[in-house]
Amino acid sequence: MAEPPPFTFPEGFLFGTATSATQVEGGCHTTDWDDFARRPGRVHGGDTPETACDSWNRWPDDVALQRSLGLNAYRLSIEWGRVEPSSGAFDSTALDRYRAMLGALRDAGIEPLVTLHHFSLPLWQARRGGLLDRELPQLLERYTRTVVSALGDLCRRWVTVNEPSVVVAHGYVLGVWPPGEHSVARALRAQHNLLAAHVAMYRAVKEIQGDSSSVGVAHHLRVIEPERSGRAADRWGAALLRWLFNDGFARALCEGTSYGPYGMGLADEARGTHDFFGLNYYSRDLVRFDPRRPADVFLPRSVSPGSEVNDLGWEVYPEGLGRLLRAWAARSARPILVTENGIADASDRQRPSFLVRHLAEVARAAAEGIDVRGYFHWSLLDNFEWAEGYSARFGLCAVDFHTLARTPRPSASLYARIAAAREIDAETWRLHRDPPPDVPRAGGSTG
Ligand code: FCB
Repeated sequence: MAEPPPFTFPEGFLFGTATSATQVEGGCHTTDWDDFARRPGRVHGGDTPETACDSWNRWPDDVALQRSLGLNAYRLSIEWGRVEPSSGAFDSTALDRYRAMLGALRDAGIEPLVTLHHFSLPLWQARRGGLLDRELPQLLERYTRTVVSALGDLCRRWVTVNEPSVVVAHGYVLGVWPPGEHSVARALRAQHNLLAAHVAMYRAVKEIQGDSSSVGVAHHLRVIEPERSGRAADRWGAALLRWLFNDGFARALCEGTSYGPYGMGLADEARGTHDFFGLNYYSRDLVRFDPRRPADVFLPRSVSPGSEVNDLGWEVYPEGLGRLLRAWAARSARPILVTENGIADASDRQRPSFLVRHLAEVARAAAEGIDVRGYFHWSLLDNFEWAEGYSARFGLCAVDFHTLARTPRPSASLYARIAAAREIDAETWRLHRDPPPDVPRAGGSTG
């Protein structure tokens, strides 16, 4: 490494964790995910979000846990289907519970960042078309107005939509999430509709909270490179996937251009509708063009053989975070929040080094003058990892899904120490700058 530690973080930097409602709360039967997970074969091991971490009841424990770690920020989401279990009927007791959570976070000195839409939809809305429903923008706007009016005195940082490209790709192209479709044309329409919804939600928050609010999207960005750089078809495939997956939504917000045919008429309205750029970063994909793989849209992805991977086979590639921070700070001209970054690692052997290496990328970018203001580790707790069910363990704290006991893993105290010092000191860097010797390595294609 060129520059020596310590790696320091700017004053006021937000050190947080992130979760989402469906993944941790439990006890909500009015969402598309509750319905989807009950269908045989949809979720690993037949798992459902029925109980999850029971955070709907145990949220005081979660706040206490964060307090004990000394973290100063928390990204959580509101369950739309819980707050509006049938169209137009808002549940004030549910909103009151969210008020209690946000109030307790503030009292503990933990700044909330609230996501309004994190993948799941109310069942009634999914039944009228979900992301393809023409009225989605108006419905999400109505919900946003209700939530921000009810909770706005306790929160001024909002994410409108979490990972638009991910929810659309999984639901409409790969067919592994609700509604389980395989249609690129419908995926593009869904993405366009979500962009319209975001614009409506952004404007609604601004109307209610004005400049005191800070509103953005959490974009899932990946490093996408050709598998065989000498082959034009692979280079073209990587560029296409980058454009469809990384760029479409994000560039519409940043530049109001380059959104392609499905953004026509909307890109101008979308330009500038964000106060910060939210970056969720996990991994790198190598892409090749393969005419025999229609299910992967002819662009199967793989991991470079021999590289470190997590429990789900995703490459661990910390440099990618630095690369994306630099690229998107320039494009967005907005402060950046790393709204998610984490690793599926049940043993916690890889997480300490994962954490230190990714945080070092953030600190380096900050030292270069990039305006990065926070880092939210995914996740505070092991939780319901969508189609992977409870098999993927992303938590800084382990959850025993029988007793629901939370136990901080060693990486949680490491994160706490870095947050308290606002730096990665030389000794921490020496211990964690390399992955441990026996990490899992990729054997080849995952596509
Ligand atoms: C992200 C999602 C989050 C979680 C992590 C592992 O794509 O936003 O809900 O599933 O991946």
